[in-house]
Amino acid sequence: MSVVSHIAVKVPATTANLGPGFDCIGVALKLYNEFKFTTLDDQGLIIQVSGTEAEKVQTDESNLLYQAFVKLYQYIEQTPPSVKIEIKLGVPLARGLGSSATAIVGGLVAANELAGSPVSELQIMELAIALEGHPDNVVPALLGGCRLAATSRTGWEICDIPWHRHIVPVLAIPDFELSTSEARRVLPTEVSRADAIFNTAHLGLLLRGLATNREEWLKAALQDKLHQPYRQTLIPGYDAVNAAAMAAGAYGMVISGAGPTLLALAEADQAKLIATEMANAWQKQGITSIVRSLPLDTQGASIL
Ligand code: HSE
Repeated sequence: MSVVSHIAVKVPATTANLGPGFDCIGVALKLYNEFKFTTLDDQGLIIQVSGTEAEKVQTDESNLLYQAFVKLYQYIEQTPPSVKIEIKLGVPLARGLGSSATAIVGGLVAANELAGSPVSELQIMELAIALEGHPDNVVPALLGGCRLAATSRTGWEICDIPWHRHIVPVLAIPDFELSTSEARRVLPTEVSRADAIFNTAHLGLLLRGLATNREEWLKAALQDKLHQPYRQTLIPGYDAVNAAAMAAGAYGMVISGAGPTLLALAEADQAKLIATEMANAWQKQGITSIVRSLPLDTQGASIL
């Protein structure tokens, strides 16, 4: 078995929605999965996984990273090469931190590099959105930073959202999982005009709050009527952790992506206390969590 080529890609975790921005806004965080692809000259697929919760990852053709890798080759109408894939996990699975998006973006970017970059970044982004079904994790995972995605007549418009440097994301990651499909199943298919207006206004306010770090705007903005009220019941201890974060000085607390991770936004000097109080609140409910302040990643997916 001789090695003919290899490529390694690093992709950041993401937190989607930020409360009122359901399915359209997300932020890349400095927490990463790494994927190394080595082409093989004989038939087969080898997938090796190490790191956080490695034993939970599929190591056959159903692996999402591999599926995205194959998708890129299908798109360029070429046969994918046989590969050995080494996955180093830093992003916890099924916690609302975009682990699936890291796999989709990682597989597409790696395949494109191995194929000699026939596909543009825009095309990769569109393929990633189609695979994931919504843009708010894959777009910041690919591009970095805080990004808003909106459909246009011809595809997608992606807007980078200014993020004031004093605003810190504080994440409380519990030791239980919640699948995105389950968290989407509980959502209504239709919403009232009042709820649509509520979210439109609050997302607008959030964008200005993120740019300015204006306390009263951020405190009002981090609310939602489209998904969180339905999902809170899937996250035991939500109310207690929310109360603890607010009492410790957070601007607000929201569900990270589809959950169950909870995300507080705060001034940098409050972040440590907020993290501790969120963890304590969950511990009182018998739930262990890892709490972390994670700065924004501004680079997105990168070749190592
Ligand atoms: N916007 C998606 C959702 C993100 O909330 O279902 C999933 O990670």
